[in-house]
Amino acid sequence: MNLNLDTKIILISGATGGIGEGICQAFLEEKAMIVPLFRGHSERLNPLFTWMENHGISKDMCQPENFDLKDKSKSKKLVQSVLEKHGKIDILVNCAGKSMEKPFLLHEDEDFNEMLDLNFTSLAVLTREVLRPMMKQRSGSIINISSLLSHRFGRGVTAYAAAKAGVDRLTESLASEMGKKGIRINSICPGVIETKMSNALTFNLGDQLMERTPLGRYGKPEDIAQACLFLASEKTASFITGQRFVVDGGISLL
Ligand SMILES: NC(=O)c1ccc[n+]([C@@H]2O[C@H](COP(=O)([O-])OP(=O)(O)OC[C@H]3O[C@@H](n4cnc5c(N)ncnc54)[C@H](OP(=O)(O)O)[C@@H]3O)[C@@H](O)[C@H]2O)c1
Repeated sequence: MNLNLDTKIILISGATGGIGEGICQAFLEEKAMIVPLFRGHSERLNPLFTWMENHGISKDMCQPENFDLKDKSKSKKLVQSVLEKHGKIDILVNCAGKSMEKPFLLHEDEDFNEMLDLNFTSLAVLTREVLRPMMKQRSGSIINISSLLSHRFGRGVTAYAAAKAGVDRLTESLASEMGKKGIRINSICPGVIETKMSNALTFNLGDQLMERTPLGRYGKPEDIAQACLFLASEKTASFITGQRFVVDGGISLL
């Protein structure tokens, strides 16, 4: 199915992570131009460039920007730079995030700050800056990668879960504010997805979580990436906004 994403510019945070890279690949396969955000050296995106080369996709379709989401005061400049180079931002995927597994009473004050700062505040600030040009365009789609932990389970990951609950609530409230301006905002709540982030969890719990998952497996980055394409496209999701889209193999049913 042609999702009509081939003229779109997609800004993606967390592009060096497992899910972020999968999302980048999925948009590239739809012939969209991506602007992945990365920290540190640009070589960190080499696996993505190698994948592109192997799939015959021109390097020009990937226009990375070096940006640490903790530098919130530079978000405006980042968005200006993307607009100067590419003229517009059609879709924003807020995928960067960090989890923390720790009993609640062992949380230091800085732990709460860190969880909220990256998972919620940085996302909110970047979203605000991207919304300005989207409002002028009177179109846009924003997809926030939240977590199943925003509304289910959560023992031992309280601060992370609370920050992700904030992301879902921001998604709903903002969707109602932005709908008449032609902008849709949704969140995706992944269950356990095989990436660096879930390694510790699956290592500690062995196969327990997989056994509890009705579909009998952990998710892969492409499972989230396909949900992302669906929500991004006006062809498939033009009447969907403010929703929490759960992609978890059914584990939250239990
Ligand atoms: N994997 C799961 O089971 C799972 C389940 C539910 C929700 N999620 C959510 O899915 C998203 C992606 O997770 P993942 O599994 O792909 O994790 P991951 O492989 O650890 O990737 C995390 C990404 O976030 C980026 N990031 C962290 N701090 C940053 C900062 N200050 N500035 C810019 N980027 C920063 C990382 O960049 P660096 O490489 O520079 O650190 C990396 O690209 C997260 O929001 C996570 O909460 C994951």
